[in-house]
Amino acid sequence: MATMSATSILFSAIAIMLLSNTLATKSNASGGGKPEVTNFILEACKNASMKNQIYDPNPITQEFCVSTLKLDNRSAKAKDIHSLVHVAIDILKGQVAAANDNVKQMLHDTKNGTATMRAFSFCMVHYNRMVSILNICDTMIKEYHGRKGSADDGLLSSELPSCVEKVDKPFIDCWLGLLAMEAKKLLDENFAVGMLVKLNFCLASTI
Ligand SMILES: *[C@@H]1O[C@H](CO)[C@@H](O)[C@H](O)[C@H]1NC(C)=O
Ligand SMILES: *[C@@H]1O[C@H](CO)[C@@H](O)[C@H](O)[C@H]1NC(C)=O
Ligand SMILES: *[C@@H]1O[C@H](CO)[C@@H](O)[C@H](O)[C@H]1NC(C)=O
Ligand SMILES: *[C@@H]1O[C@H](CO)[C@@H](O)[C@H](O)[C@H]1NC(C)=O
Repeated sequence: MATMSATSILFSAIAIMLLSNTLATKSNASGGGKPEVTNFILEACKNASMKNQIYDPNPITQEFCVSTLKLDNRSAKAKDIHSLVHVAIDILKGQVAAANDNVKQMLHDTKNGTATMRAFSFCMVHYNRMVSILNICDTMIKEYHGRKGSADDGLLSSELPSCVEKVDKPFIDCWLGLLAMEAKKLLDENFAVGMLVKLNFCLASTI
């Protein structure tokens, strides 16, 4: 792979600059019984770990993938990769919501009319855009499952990863705003969002 998009480069830059890896997603989030790790999850995560961008200093490992999917007990029930991506999208949306809540909190304590206040406000818009895009990807999965059994599944293998990839832009826009404001705590949380974006992309790319 000779070329790298600007997005990939930015993605790598994020990972270099922010090495602290704080996943705000609460473990035991799904509650209930002990999360089960199926062979299907292990294999899907192994495959996903081979889809990292070249040069990514914080690649998605099989372990990160497994421990993330374990946060939601529905992943153990998944029989196809689309269902796993659906779970991964939900986990990502949870992380975006947590990050968004923190920005909202900080915004509350930020003086009106300042650059910081504007950066935070835009970040919230970007996070909401991410959720809107992810909802469309989720709908693609639902429709795919609805059509199962028919000869034409109506979903090209590239469609889901390219849907997930569309969240890169708002993610990076938010990141650049936070970076300019040196909002450390929010940057850490945004980094956790970024790791989950990458996980979703790698998983979807195995289709
Ligand atoms: C979460 O799970 C871990 C081990 O799986 C356990 O040690 C911990 O007490 C649990 N936390 C809660 C809040 O249930
Ligand atoms: C997952 O955990 C939730 C919350 O404890 C529970 O309501 C649900 O039935 C569980 N789902 C599965 C598939 O085990
Ligand atoms: C993992 O990749 C192998 C080789 O391409 C493929 O045969 C297998 O079905 C994949 N497994 C999953 C769970 O995606
Ligand atoms: C900031 O300014 C806008 C527009 O002037 C106003 O609607 C909003 O209530 C103000 N917010 C705070 C926290 O003062």
